[in-house]
Amino acid sequence: MSTALETPGLSEIQRQIVELARDFARTKIEPFAAEWDRTKHFARDVIDELGKLGFLGMVTPEEYGGLGLDTLTYLLALEEIAAADASIAVSLSIHNAIPTTMLLRHGSSEQKERWLKPMARGELLAGFALSEPDAGSDAAALQAQAARDGGAAGGGGGWVLRGTKAWATNGGTADLMMIMARTDTPAARRGAKGISTFIVPTNTPSYRAGKPEDKMGLRASNTAAVVLDDLRLPAEHLLGEEGMGFVYAMEGLDAGRLGIAVQAVGIARRALEHSVAYCGERRQFGQALRQFEGVQFKLADMATRVEAARALAHVAASRKDRGENVTQIASMAKLFASETAMWVTTQAVQLFGGYGYMRDFPVEKLFRDAKVTEIYEGTSEIQRIVVARGLYPGA
Ligand code: CAA
Repeated sequence: MSTALETPGLSEIQRQIVELARDFARTKIEPFAAEWDRTKHFARDVIDELGKLGFLGMVTPEEYGGLGLDTLTYLLALEEIAAADASIAVSLSIHNAIPTTMLLRHGSSEQKERWLKPMARGELLAGFALSEPDAGSDAAALQAQAARDGGAAGGGGGWVLRGTKAWATNGGTADLMMIMARTDTPAARRGAKGISTFIVPTNTPSYRAGKPEDKMGLRASNTAAVVLDDLRLPAEHLLGEEGMGFVYAMEGLDAGRLGIAVQAVGIARRALEHSVAYCGERRQFGQALRQFEGVQFKLADMATRVEAARALAHVAASRKDRGENVTQIASMAKLFASETAMWVTTQAVQLFGGYGYMRDFPVEKLFRDAKVTEIYEGTSEIQRIVVARGLYPGA
């Protein structure tokens, strides 16, 4: 059974980063994760500590204050965090993948200076708000409206945002949100090309996050609705080009889905590790569970799927680092890893039997945490659509 650290061919620096992530995860996250889950505690202090170590700027180039890691190293570190607690991992994943990618690719030099650098240094935590109550899978149907502000903000030429975003990770805890809103008009809708991205500091008056959602899993992560009630922004808070926000969001999700893939790998791997240990110790009918062939087959399938899910995510990472388009393979990696996590954690609960169903044992939380990986950043059905579309490019 291998972990991220056993990945062949790691350089010394990659090994050091992954070891740092693993040691932090094992000492400062995993021992507290069950309690945070029970109390729905968002461990901002832990995220801040990770930020000081550079984990909020993992892929951000050094010139912007980040660690400038390649995608593989970033994914290996994230797997270690996710194996300890998927709630912490999702905050890191969103921040590093989506707002960071958006700013790096489309931010002006002033925006990079003002937002990207403090994000990379761990001084600002960022989130992303695309979904709405009536626009989940069909993200381009979002209705939040941004209209030109003829008034005070930015001396005129600013924006007024109105609408409701749903299920935003870090919505109530981020310092900065990347928010998608329509900049076309109701009289002349432009579909996906009528959406723009706005950089919204959460201390802007009229930014209101709802109470944290009461979720099945990832209970220690913050997920909240965000109400934009005539929220005023200066003109320079528009990211990139007006009307390109949906494309920017999709590009961000290409990177984000790789993070969710390894989050799922981390969850599945931890469930496998617990299962291997338990089946080695637990005796029934006069022998350890691991001596039953039926149990061996289950463990073998779990281990095989975890390795395969990790390998697919790593192939996607190397293609990303070669500058290739990863839309299709990122969806494959997320689809395969999330379904692996759900399957492996289901087997783990079954192997633990009655104990597996109890909150006192860790596989119950892993099972609950796994489910959302099949839902957020695009459901498994959406990933299949993206994969299938990639089979007929240009059609
Ligand atoms: N990269 C760059 N551009 C892309 C792109 C990508 N990956 N995907 C689409 N585009 C572009 C298209 O090329 C197109 O532009 P052109 O017209 O110039 O060609 C434009 O965007 C519109 O694309 P589509 O016609 O494909 O759009 P669609 O309406 O058919 O939707 C979809 C496609 C893949 C189904 C998309 O809606 C989707 O991914 N839905 C799922 C949404 C999702 O993942 N939401 C997660 C929200 S975040 C979250 O989960 C919360 C959290 O914080 C964790």
